[in-house]
Amino acid sequence: MVDICRGCVSNLKKYVPGRTEEEVKKEFGLDKVVKLASNENPLGPSPKAVEAIKDYASKVYVYPDGSYRKLKEKLSEELDISFENITLGCGSDEVIKLIGETFLDPGDEIVTAWPTFPIYKHIAKLMDANVVEIPLKSFKHDLNKMADAITDKTKIVFICSPNNPTGTIVTQDEIEGFLNKVPDDVLVVFDEAYVEYVESDDFADALKLFKDNKWNNKKIVTLRTFSKIHGLAGLRIGYGITSPEIIEPIEKVREPFNVNSVAHEAAIASLEDKEHIEKSRKENFKEKKYLQKTLKTLGFEAEDTEANFLNVKSPFCDMELFDELMKKGIIMRPGSLLGLPGYFRLTVGKEKDNRYLCDKIKEILAERKGNDANAMNN
Ligand SMILES: Cc1ncc(COP(=O)(O)O)c(C=O)c1O
Repeated sequence: MVDICRGCVSNLKKYVPGRTEEEVKKEFGLDKVVKLASNENPLGPSPKAVEAIKDYASKVYVYPDGSYRKLKEKLSEELDISFENITLGCGSDEVIKLIGETFLDPGDEIVTAWPTFPIYKHIAKLMDANVVEIPLKSFKHDLNKMADAITDKTKIVFICSPNNPTGTIVTQDEIEGFLNKVPDDVLVVFDEAYVEYVESDDFADALKLFKDNKWNNKKIVTLRTFSKIHGLAGLRIGYGITSPEIIEPIEKVREPFNVNSVAHEAAIASLEDKEHIEKSRKENFKEKKYLQKTLKTLGFEAEDTEANFLNVKSPFCDMELFDELMKKGIIMRPGSLLGLPGYFRLTVGKEKDNRYLCDKIKEILAERKGNDANAMNN
């Protein structure tokens, strides 16, 4: 068939979603499948958000308030910023797309790390822009090299902190030196999808940088989401925080009702439930430590992360481990699909699911040992 797509669309790669629990259950005839692959909150949404969703169900025949005033007011209050500093998206994915559509012309450049969240690259390619990828250094953003990679054509630098898939952060010290080198007309987009999980005092909080007068002349954008600690991934809602001069053109590109009204109400209720957020944070910390410790005893090295997932070094091929775990009802993300062969990304799950995972890994190791012994005897 004749390809009538724009050239850059023909060259795009389609997003390949991970396997669903239902698919895996059916394929392997399993009763139980545990998905530890998409970095969701295993405790689910706040009960207050669930109530808000139910309450709003009968009102969905009305279009949302396209200015999303109530949620923006709530966020302004929570984050001590102005209403004009916020734009909402159908997930932070959409805010990334809006930024690309608003600011990238064909031939412009973006600078990102690699491996990192792949949507930055995808959107840049969609806009026919060029992508300059700077390899991580010891799993962290190499900010010196990223600054050196900025040219006259660079429009946007994306910094994912904590970084997906490594869980590493950029620190306050590192960012100061970096921002000093970034020209004032380059957008610096900090993707902080996992910010609520961060424990380290060294974390460079992009919102603080944005509010700091010292960086007034820089174009700093912070992206956050309700998909992770707020447990609302299925409703699709995220936001960007930046100056009104950057928001204004984005608002011209944004569809009038890009966020649905149920997500809008649920997000407000979720922000009010501090207890649920704190419980989720504590549970994540406890279970992350459990997994790190237990996996280590099993011969796996789990790097330190500041998010709700671990970047784990597999003692054998990550794709083999992925297949073997899937047959036993565990879904994780193999590093080979994320730019980190030999590693895998594991979402910190519920207490019982994390123990289930460790039991299944023990079974796999025992089976492999048995197979090796048989091979030696044959
Ligand atoms: C770093 C990062 N940014 C953004 C997103 C997208 O989040 P949302 O569900 O808000 O689109 C994800 C999702 O996994 C992520 O890991």
